[in-house]
Amino acid sequence: MVSTTKINILKLLKAKEIISGEEIAKSLGISRTAVWKHIQDLKKKGYKIETTPKGYRLINNQDLLNEEELAKLPYKVYYYKEVTSTMDVAKKFAERGEEALIIAETQTQGKGRLDRSWHSPKGGIWMSLIVRPSLTLKEAYLLTYIAALATALAIEKVSRIKVYLKWPNDVIYKKDKEEKKLAGILLEIKAEIDQINYAIIGIGINVNNEISILESQAISLKEILGKEIKRKNIIIEFIKIFKNLLRSETKEVLKLWKNKSLTLGRKVKILHPEGKKIGLALDISDDGALILKTEADEILKIYSGDCTHLRPVL
Ligand code: BTN
Repeated sequence: MVSTTKINILKLLKAKEIISGEEIAKSLGISRTAVWKHIQDLKKKGYKIETTPKGYRLINNQDLLNEEELAKLPYKVYYYKEVTSTMDVAKKFAERGEEALIIAETQTQGKGRLDRSWHSPKGGIWMSLIVRPSLTLKEAYLLTYIAALATALAIEKVSRIKVYLKWPNDVIYKKDKEEKKLAGILLEIKAEIDQINYAIIGIGINVNNEISILESQAISLKEILGKEIKRKNIIIEFIKIFKNLLRSETKEVLKLWKNKSLTLGRKVKILHPEGKKIGLALDISDDGALILKTEADEILKIYSGDCTHLRPVL
């Protein structure tokens, strides 16, 4: 449960280098014992708060994600230290009719696309957003494009590096000719024939964790920047951009996605249920498919699959 009193105490602690229990008590109209109790709870939540002779001092350079830190988001936030997968937790909330954001510090069974597992150690952003947009099942593909785009734009805004998108929904960091995956999106949908009941958008971003030793094709922001960044800022930015894109025209979303794409214009290999296809990635159709021109000059529309960029760059 988010407590308004705790949020207010945090505000006071953040505004001043040191603040006495008495001053907090007075300005919130509560007893000093209550202040002390809240401070103990905040410490349990991971806040480093020193008690000095002049009062409390918050060590304010921490990278905390919890309901208090994310209280301003337009979604209810559920924060966990450890879960199997935020997708599993989100599903339970979604079935109860909620729209919410589920965040975990670590996942023991993080899921990737195509039944792969997803490394989710401490330091990354592992979250699932439950949304109920008025889209038909056919239009649901848009959510992955929107989520990947919002993830890329949020990363760029906060970390000031340039990132790209690989079809269908990987966020890529490119240095010289090397392409490394920074983030991925997983979409799970429950729908009736003509209306989505709910969608759970899983977002995994390698932020302050180490990943390249575990996955040679992946990289984290800390590994790129050589320093840690506050994950909270990426989440806040992501939600802002995501909500804006959700209100935008499909054409606009696809145009923005195409501008950030590393896939279009490239020779690619697509693995999908019907087999392997190699060809030139031409475009994204209005209904969200990758348009591929094969070596036999066939034009194919591919709606899902695993894409590898082939060299040389065409
Ligand atoms: C991909 O394969 O690129 C998608 C990865 C999605 C990972 C995220 S982390 C939060 C959410 N919970 C999961 O178990 N998976 C998604």
